[in-house]
Amino acid sequence: MAADKSGLYRDLSRQLAALLAGEPDPIANAANTVALIYHTLPDLNWAGFYFCDGPELVLGPFQGKPACARIAIGKGVCGTAAARAATVLVPDVHDFSGHITCDPDSRSELAVPLVEAGRVLGVLDLDSPLRARFDEVDQAGCERLVAQFLEHHRQYPNCRLWRNSGDQK
Ligand code: SME
Repeated sequence: MAADKSGLYRDLSRQLAALLAGEPDPIANAANTVALIYHTLPDLNWAGFYFCDGPELVLGPFQGKPACARIAIGKGVCGTAAARAATVLVPDVHDFSGHITCDPDSRSELAVPLVEAGRVLGVLDLDSPLRARFDEVDQAGCERLVAQFLEHHRQYPNCRLWRNSGDQK
């Protein structure tokens, strides 16, 4: 299964490159990125971005049920990934102290921070109704997709993705 899953992530990466090509707008690109992930990876009930806004994460484009609009950095799975600037993989959200429940059906979660030049810009968050849905192949695959998302926008120095902490308002 792991080998097939690596192949799935290689396909996702190729499709993402085609979707992003030529488009500078990070919100349009974030929307397409999570739509691609949500409709390609099996057993997800939520996939979306949160972006840094001062001391909080604010909800960005997503697929799935409505979710919490704001999460304090350091709180929940997403806020912890942002505070640590490191991926947080949670096999069972019931065992993660401080997990923020947006959908009671969610059982496992993978939160990958967007880190550019040492600065955390946001988080890609995936939820599943299955326990232990995510493993190290998913972690590596999603980290690669996030790196690809950031790399794509580097060609646009004025991209609002680089103006985090609420200074785009
Ligand atoms: N469970 C997350 C909140 C975001 S939702 O899952 C969409 C958390 O603990 O940060």
